[in-house]
Amino acid sequence: MESWFKTCCICILLVFSFVTPTYSCFIEIHWRIFITNTITDNIVAHVQSGDDDLGNHTIPFNTNYSWEFCRRMDRRTLYFGSFWWGSKFQTFDLYNKDIDRFYHTSDARDDNCYWLVRPDGFWISRRNLAFPDSWNIMRSWTN
Ligand SMILES: *[C@@H]1O[C@H](CO)[C@@H](O)[C@H](O)[C@H]1NC(C)=O
Ligand SMILES: *[C@@H]1O[C@H](CO)[C@@H](O)[C@H](O)[C@H]1NC(C)=O
Repeated sequence: MESWFKTCCICILLVFSFVTPTYSCFIEIHWRIFITNTITDNIVAHVQSGDDDLGNHTIPFNTNYSWEFCRRMDRRTLYFGSFWWGSKFQTFDLYNKDIDRFYHTSDARDDNCYWLVRPDGFWISRRNLAFPDSWNIMRSWTN
């Protein structure tokens, strides 16, 4: 192997070892999605994508549930969630390419997105500010 090539490879690896966050994504963007339950009751959340099923999780009042992933280069990463609160239910996309477009902080390689679950529905924000600053409602509960 040419020595310039080796040097080049080592440089590239060094650069990535600095820019890559703790969760190891290579050149993809690292996303962490938080779901905070503000309902004074347990809710159950089931997050899944085509090839990643995170299973059922109970989220007690005033706690977070989060998961992370490396966004696919073709931006086809999609996670949807199903939620149960007593007899109420809802299911929708928690992360898809539109959410990526609207909620990605430009230049960030390590991005967060926040969902707030309230009795009136599901709110999203790119920052975890005190409600209602910066939050947008995306869905209500069924029935
Ligand atoms: C997840 O929880 C909901 C609500 O409690 C339940 O109806 C559903 O069957 C559970 N799914 C699995 C795979 O356990
Ligand atoms: C949820 O996680 C975010 C980000 O780490 C944090 O700022 C927030 O205080 C947490 N909320 C709760 C209710 O634990």
